[in-house]
Amino acid sequence: MTKQANQTKRETVNVLLEENRLFVPSDEFKRNALIRDESIYEEAAQNREAFWAKWASELDWFQKWDKVLDWQLPFAKWFVGGKLNASYNCLDRHIKKGLGNKTAILWEGEPGDSRKLTYEDVYRSVNKLANVLKGLGVAKGDRVAIYLPMIPEAVFAMLACARIGAVHTVVFGGFSADSLKERVRDAQAKLIITADGGYRRGKVLPLKETADQAAAECPTIKHILVVRRTGQNIPMQSGRDLWYHEFVDKAQDYCEPEPMDAEDMLYILYTSGTTGKPKGIVHTTGGYMTGVYATTRWVFDIKPEDIFWCTADIGWVTGHSYIVYGPMANAATQIMYEGSPDYPERDRFWKIIEKYKVTIFYTAPTAIRTFMRWGTQWPDGCDLSSLRLLGSVGEPINPEAWVWYHKHIGKDRCPVVDTWWQTETGCILISPLPGVTALKPGSATKPLPGVEAVVVTEEGKTIKEGGGYLAIKSPWPSMLRGIYGDDERYKKTYWSRFKDAYFTGDGAKIDADGYLWLLGRVDDIMLVAGHNISTMEVESALVDNPSVAESAVVGITDEIKGQAIAAFVILKEGNKPGEKMDETLKGHVAKKIGAIARPQKIIFTAELPKTRSGKIMRRLLRDIAEGRALGDVTTLADAHVIEALKEKYQEEA
Ligand code: WT7
Repeated sequence: MTKQANQTKRETVNVLLEENRLFVPSDEFKRNALIRDESIYEEAAQNREAFWAKWASELDWFQKWDKVLDWQLPFAKWFVGGKLNASYNCLDRHIKKGLGNKTAILWEGEPGDSRKLTYEDVYRSVNKLANVLKGLGVAKGDRVAIYLPMIPEAVFAMLACARIGAVHTVVFGGFSADSLKERVRDAQAKLIITADGGYRRGKVLPLKETADQAAAECPTIKHILVVRRTGQNIPMQSGRDLWYHEFVDKAQDYCEPEPMDAEDMLYILYTSGTTGKPKGIVHTTGGYMTGVYATTRWVFDIKPEDIFWCTADIGWVTGHSYIVYGPMANAATQIMYEGSPDYPERDRFWKIIEKYKVTIFYTAPTAIRTFMRWGTQWPDGCDLSSLRLLGSVGEPINPEAWVWYHKHIGKDRCPVVDTWWQTETGCILISPLPGVTALKPGSATKPLPGVEAVVVTEEGKTIKEGGGYLAIKSPWPSMLRGIYGDDERYKKTYWSRFKDAYFTGDGAKIDADGYLWLLGRVDDIMLVAGHNISTMEVESALVDNPSVAESAVVGITDEIKGQAIAAFVILKEGNKPGEKMDETLKGHVAKKIGAIARPQKIIFTAELPKTRSGKIMRRLLRDIAEGRALGDVTTLADAHVIEALKEKYQEEA
């Protein structure tokens, strides 16, 4: 895009914002929407528990609950005494209603291979795998790690665990052996389900080798079940490693779904915390399923004929809630794509939308900004007329990207739902209802019905207008039930900042119309391309390198990724800074954590700005890295350090 075109675009967006222009749903969209009446907010506010219970009762329960909510702050129990099974709700009940032949998954591999699976197909695969897991000694409550590419077997694996009451912990296929090991060890998983490899941008991810490295230091692992995806040669350790197909082919077709207590664990999913150690976020069955089932209907307006596509990886919560549990509990038909958006060309996503006539498309701002950079010729060359609704998730979407998305992908016809939520919240909490809400580009608009999200001051006082912290004042069904094995950390992280509200860690602003504008993290967590990475995690990876004495990591604004990682590094005596060291350290971090954590910039320095108590002043480092005027420096132990660093930084930039 030329500079001038950019300028015009920015001006258009500014005008839009200044005029406070609203995008109201079209009459047609409104008329056909599942939720078209704003009375749903009122209904929920009048009796939150009754409201959620009504939505819970749309699921199939083996036994109804005795009590909707037992709230002992900060511990919630929803639908106490109720029994259900998540895989039953995603599969059996649809088949019983005659939907066995409905397409569940339209899968496309990166190289261009494809698979079409009906609910009956998924059901059979899940049942067989469930029997295999049982046969391998996996019992209710046991943890299973899933380390797979975006192939249907990832869905089978999650639902098979759910079927027998095993707890899955999915680890993103881009994570390193160390990251996998840390998660497997924390969860004390018995088994890993992985693949010989997966395709990403034309290359093969060596998943099995990585799993082997991790498993070597995980004494709890009894077996590794390996899906054949690429067909390449991989080492198989006799007795421990088993081919998935060999076992599944021989397994029985039916496995009785385990009746799970509403509060039995469904999964653990690790997310970055402000310390180096990731937090195992625990989700249970009844409340979680209620939250994802209901929000899939409200926000995505999914109807039987829709073709839904959420581009997230199964390794993130978005894939859990809006590929597996939410859409499948709604008997949706959806796309699952293995690879990258620019393989073989930069129009792969648009080609997929055209080919499968996708109607609802859900992606991340970082992707949208990348598409903007690639230019409109890519979407313009494809027929996107099947689309009727667009979604965004993962980080704040800047108004410019919102407007571009609305215009060039939605052709000014599709509402854009900007959905705010977290691994911890389980389901979307702040989002427009596309048939009801007037949209403002860049605002996630309002809390969903039954959700008491508010902006509060430092003291925890709710404000009607202005900036502060985003907090949630009352429990919701799909909220996290804790951090696996660490109640203290759970209390400290989420429930100590404010007396009686959940602390999200995000800054937010509420405008005169009551619209919410999310402002990103206020703690030491960075949002890099929508992925949660803590500064501490990257710092520990850096100091793990024998050349590094000390490091301080900050997130800096990045036009495409939202934030990028900048690392200030002090080398140990005898090590030379320079291009070679730069590459070594970046590679080291990528190897320790995964490619998503690779720093964009490394700044070698002799000292770091510290307070008198020795705390690194990241705020000042951010100022430097972003080229801003320095904020308050009065708490610095040695003011010279920062001046020197600033000069050095400017020289290098
Ligand atoms: C953090 C949670 C929820 C699935 C993906 C990320 C940021 C997420 C939005 C949005 C502004 C957003 C927040 C949040 N975030 N969605 N629509 N607008 N910020 O899950 O890795 O747990 O990250 O992502 O900062 O706290 P996660």
